[in-house]
Amino acid sequence: MCGIVGYVGDNQAANFLLDGLAKLEYRGYDSAGIAVFDGENIRVEKSVGRLASLRDKVKDDTPVGTMGIGHTRWATHGRPCDRNSHPHTDCHGDFVIVHNGIIENYLTLKEELQAKGHEFRSETDTEVVAHLLEDVYNGDFEASVREVLRRIEGSYSLVFMSKANPDCLICSKQDNPLIIGLGEGENFVASDIPAIIAYTRRNYILNDGELAIVKKDSVWISNRQGEPVTKKVFEVTWNAEAAEKGGYEHFMLKEIHEQPKAVRDTMSARIGKDGKSIVMDELKWTSEFVNSFNKMYIIACGTAYNAGLVGKYYLEKLARIPVEIDVASEFRYRDPIIDENTLVIVVSQSGETIDTLAALKESKRLGAKTLAVTNVVGSSIAREADQVIYTWAGPEIAVASTKAYTTQIVLMFMLSLYMGELKGTIPADRVAELVGELQKLPTHVGETLEDVEPIKTFAKQYGYNDDVFYIGRSLDYHVALEGSLKLKEISYIHAEAYAAGELKHGTLALIIEGVPVIALATQKDVYEKTLSNIKEVKARDAVVIGIAAFDDTELEKYVDHVIKVPKTDELLIPILTVIPLQLLAYYAAITRGCDVDKPRNLAKSVTVE
Ligand code: F6R
Repeated sequence: MCGIVGYVGDNQAANFLLDGLAKLEYRGYDSAGIAVFDGENIRVEKSVGRLASLRDKVKDDTPVGTMGIGHTRWATHGRPCDRNSHPHTDCHGDFVIVHNGIIENYLTLKEELQAKGHEFRSETDTEVVAHLLEDVYNGDFEASVREVLRRIEGSYSLVFMSKANPDCLICSKQDNPLIIGLGEGENFVASDIPAIIAYTRRNYILNDGELAIVKKDSVWISNRQGEPVTKKVFEVTWNAEAAEKGGYEHFMLKEIHEQPKAVRDTMSARIGKDGKSIVMDELKWTSEFVNSFNKMYIIACGTAYNAGLVGKYYLEKLARIPVEIDVASEFRYRDPIIDENTLVIVVSQSGETIDTLAALKESKRLGAKTLAVTNVVGSSIAREADQVIYTWAGPEIAVASTKAYTTQIVLMFMLSLYMGELKGTIPADRVAELVGELQKLPTHVGETLEDVEPIKTFAKQYGYNDDVFYIGRSLDYHVALEGSLKLKEISYIHAEAYAAGELKHGTLALIIEGVPVIALATQKDVYEKTLSNIKEVKARDAVVIGIAAFDDTELEKYVDHVIKVPKTDELLIPILTVIPLQLLAYYAAITRGCDVDKPRNLAKSVTVE
């Protein structure tokens, strides 16, 4: 995710900007830049790659000035390169900005501004903000920024610098974090506490819609209506390392808790203005194109494969196209039957997994159309595929994938609706209903994350067992697979997932007294059958933790504990039921003293076959 820093004071801004950006490196980025104002001119320096390249670029000629802004970019709109790096400027370099988030209406604004003669230099959504400010500027910096904020849609934390206003930075936020660090004769702006913790522990935390005017010896904050806001100073008590994790003990826990935002970011720009349809500007497919596919493949590894299983279910159910799914390392060695009427979807968080990349190349060689679902802009898989749709989960640092899984499912759900609409396989009122449910998901994900205490207790109770089984049918089975993968990879407990109906064909022999079985039972059409399977394991004295829908009153009669998830459509429930399983794996690993973020033998990006 991108990082922001800003400085106003008496010291050289560049020193703090480079140092602050270094403290944000853990967030993941692919380019960096700074802009420094010397009272007359603003100098912008950017470099793709590590911060070290930017340092190298400016080391013999560091920009001079006591006010400035800086940014580490994690590419969303436009590949990583110098041109797309922040800070961005208007046509004449009078306004300079840095931005985290996504400006959803940037295309419309860009067209408007281009028609008025504004010249754009990058492919980013962000640049539009600098040109818009130039366009609306009326000599009053604050009023003009407010006008910009009124016109843009989406999520942002933004910092603005203006040549005509040499004594202040203006910043504001919506759905992305922004803090102001309070110093003596100097003040700081940052997207995250680690950037400034070495300089000050006293901060103002901005709320959505607030605007701050930051000068070297004052900070003035107002609300959306321009009324002054009195803020309490937030004193940071964490150390720098804890601050990088936003106060969470591990990146995995932080990333689990980032899921409401990750889901919202992945979804929101793809929902039609009417709130009832799906828009995939990246694809712009026609009915004819979608109808030309007589078969689809989903290819992925690990967690991405588990998300793919859910995707297959959606595509078949909603778009009525047969879908085969394969792990990437198997796919290309089995002489797959593919032609130009096949669509191959590869799913990969990193976009670099070598098996998935090789399967993608093989599919192209065989003549298939290819689509990548990935989280990393400009990654090898994104570049290789004919088309790409991105999950906007932000960087995933913990080895165990969490927010990538939920956002992959969201995106494949949206793709299925999109294809179903084009094929005419889902009635418009059902699409509208599902899009409505989709929009409630970020809230429901947040609610699911609220009740962790029982999960911590289960983890302590069962964290020392040697074996754990996960069972479910239909979509519940797919989630069970992901739950068991999470548990084994970070807690090293032997965990297996079974289609509940398969147990009695062999595995039931392993169910003895006290063996924990996590049973998911949320799918109505197979509910009674799942219940029978649960009774079978209970009859062998297993300890059963049931995962149920919000309105279930039956399951608790047959199991030892029940976790319920909020109300949503049955199709979307995997995005909720996986969350207690992620948390269970996390707390089981804590119970056993495992290195949660870096489990043994595993790597975040698997670039060997
Ligand atoms: C498990 C996990 C892995 C990855 C797999 C594919 O938590 O993270 O199973 O899902 O290595 O990686 P990507 O999605 O980067 O292709």
